[in-house]
Amino acid sequence: MDRYVGVAEPVLGDEERSNIAEVLDSGRFLQGPYVEEFEEKWADHVGTDHAVAVTNGTEAIQLSLKALGMEPGDEVIVPSLTFGSTATAVVHQAGVPVFADIDRELYTLDHTDLERCLSDETFAVMPVHLYGHPAEMEEIREFAAAHDLYVIEDAAQAHGAAYRDSKVGSIGDIGCFSFYATKNITTGEGGIITTDNDAIAENLRMLRSHGMANRDKHVTLGYNHRMSELNGALGTAQVDRLTGFNQRRREISERLHNELADLDWLEPAAVRDYVEHAYFWAPFEIQPDKIGMTGKEVWRELRERGVETRHRYNVPLYDQPVFENHRGFNSEFPWSANPNSHKYDLSLPHVEEVVGNMIGLPNHPNLEEEDIQYVIETVREFEETI
Ligand SMILES: Cc1ncc(COP(=O)(O)O)c(C=O)c1O
Repeated sequence: MDRYVGVAEPVLGDEERSNIAEVLDSGRFLQGPYVEEFEEKWADHVGTDHAVAVTNGTEAIQLSLKALGMEPGDEVIVPSLTFGSTATAVVHQAGVPVFADIDRELYTLDHTDLERCLSDETFAVMPVHLYGHPAEMEEIREFAAAHDLYVIEDAAQAHGAAYRDSKVGSIGDIGCFSFYATKNITTGEGGIITTDNDAIAENLRMLRSHGMANRDKHVTLGYNHRMSELNGALGTAQVDRLTGFNQRRREISERLHNELADLDWLEPAAVRDYVEHAYFWAPFEIQPDKIGMTGKEVWRELRERGVETRHRYNVPLYDQPVFENHRGFNSEFPWSANPNSHKYDLSLPHVEEVVGNMIGLPNHPNLEEEDIQYVIETVREFEETI
């Protein structure tokens, strides 16, 4: 192997380092100026009145559900192809995730499947801007408005993405981001919640800090999900660089798409002309019948040739044991608190066609020209060398 090109790498610079040193010297690790500055910059970037920083993206979703007033047994419609915590966050808040199919071209929540998922208990719809491409928010919002549902954007993979000129995180009632180490920008671990609603923002600030309205009063059942100053110090430096990072991700991803377009076994994912893609991934759909291999085999073989790829999601959420085996309110999932008899032995057609076949090629801003060339050549020669 001439080279090994990794799929994700945080890009950290002098400002991140000097900010961290300053926090260490100051001895102030919580609720200090860096978290506040990060929140202000993030709200400004997304275009919302508020941004509330928390410990990670999963807690961002959980606190959002709680701040919106979700009750035990309430249902939240989620796509079936996403990271687990989109749905486990619902269960942690005593809600029931209802699994919808995905759009066959975009891999995001299929708005035409929402009607099937609707019940009297439906509380919210949670689209995920998967791989950095925004979900079809216009249709999803219309459906939610018609049925009086909240819209929670899971934007954990889509920093800086936009849908019809609105940044993701500003389109639904609430937006949730993650700053995990592999994301377009990182705080190590971290998350943030965006909203225009003053009361919800106030509630979120209390919920993340022990439910306290002031230092003497616990007014609601809260948590300790505050972001530390160390994470905030990274975040405030990273947010300034997001647009530049995303520009580079776009250039690399478009180049990969163009230069590999003639390979019949590797289909580049669609990009709508009314969105700005964040290119968290440079996503491709493997055609197993054309290459004669499964997605997992392609992922493994490419890695052996020095090209690491992302390869997810490989199990639909409705097949994840966590939901089947979960007990709550003294009954099996879905719980007896919920009067509906949703079936969880699902097999949704688009999910079943796609699952296991998605890979993301390396596209992070640290890549050198030689790395990109190596990825292109390795993938182009792949068919001949297996
Ligand atoms: C779509 C999606 N939602 C939620 C999360 C959870 O974020 P975190 O890892 O920060 O808890 C992730 C993963 O990072 C994700 O990809």
